[in-house]
Amino acid sequence: MNHLIGNNIYILRKKHGLTQEQLAEQINVSFQAVSKWETGNSLPDISTLPLLANALHCNIDSLLGYAAEQRKITDYEERYKTTEGYYWGLQPSGMCYEIMKLCPPTKPRRLLDIACGEGKNAVFFARNGYHVTAFDAVPIALEKAKRFADQAKTEVHFFQADMLDFRLDNEFDIIFCSGALHYIPPHLRKEILENYQKHTTCGGLHAFNVFVRKPFIKNPSDQKKFRYKWISGELFTYYADWLIPSCGETIFDCRSGGIPHQHCMDTLYAVKKSELQL
Ligand SMILES: C[S@@+](CC[C@H](N)C(=O)[O-])C[C@H]1O[C@@H](n2cnc3c(N)ncnc32)[C@H](O)[C@@H]1O
Repeated sequence: MNHLIGNNIYILRKKHGLTQEQLAEQINVSFQAVSKWETGNSLPDISTLPLLANALHCNIDSLLGYAAEQRKITDYEERYKTTEGYYWGLQPSGMCYEIMKLCPPTKPRRLLDIACGEGKNAVFFARNGYHVTAFDAVPIALEKAKRFADQAKTEVHFFQADMLDFRLDNEFDIIFCSGALHYIPPHLRKEILENYQKHTTCGGLHAFNVFVRKPFIKNPSDQKKFRYKWISGELFTYYADWLIPSCGETIFDCRSGGIPHQHCMDTLYAVKKSELQL
């Protein structure tokens, strides 16, 4: 059964402070029906979707989880459009090599690249034998990523989704996200990370980095929309019951936007314990 719609109904219902009974009353169904949708035991009838979307103040696309709430999600669209080549280049991030060390593709491994941008990391993983799925919110980024994958003669399953309302309903061995977790506002972090953790195989790996706030670092992106820097160390707190082969915090110089500034970033590699280790 597809849990995605149920998850989205739950998140949006909570966001609008509605109980299951209140939502049920607004759309003329029983509260048991709402409960079954949210637990993934049944799906709403197609004819109920417009009523649900109306009651939850969203459109049907975002109920279904495929991105495209008509709001502007990121300010990257313009950069990807106006850069002739690849805004982030085609060289993979250093994290990709760490992932290869920790979880080598010596057997088929399903890897998810969250907010994959123009695909430099996703294509690297596919070239190296991983089964890669990758999504981003920006269509032009995905077009470029698909072009790159075709040129590299690799197969990546790319799709468009907004990580704020997309939830996993199948498992991955590796979940990777570089440079994008700061788009998740604080109130959604726990629930989103729990969804990723639940849909990770035992022995599977999470490899994430995240921009964090430091009182002594001021930089231009602090003022930008959609970004919510994390508290230093916050990411690690969600992984108390995972094995941590490596984690750390670094401060580095950046020249994006033409103004020299610094960032602080936390990086985490965490392995989900197997049944025997629990
Ligand atoms: C700094 S870029 C990193 C891209 C890629 N991970 C890389 O390392 O090259 C951040 C990416 O996050 C994507 N993004 C921002 N908010 C998002 C959201 N809510 N859902 C999905 N992708 C999002 C942007 O479109 C952009 O491609």
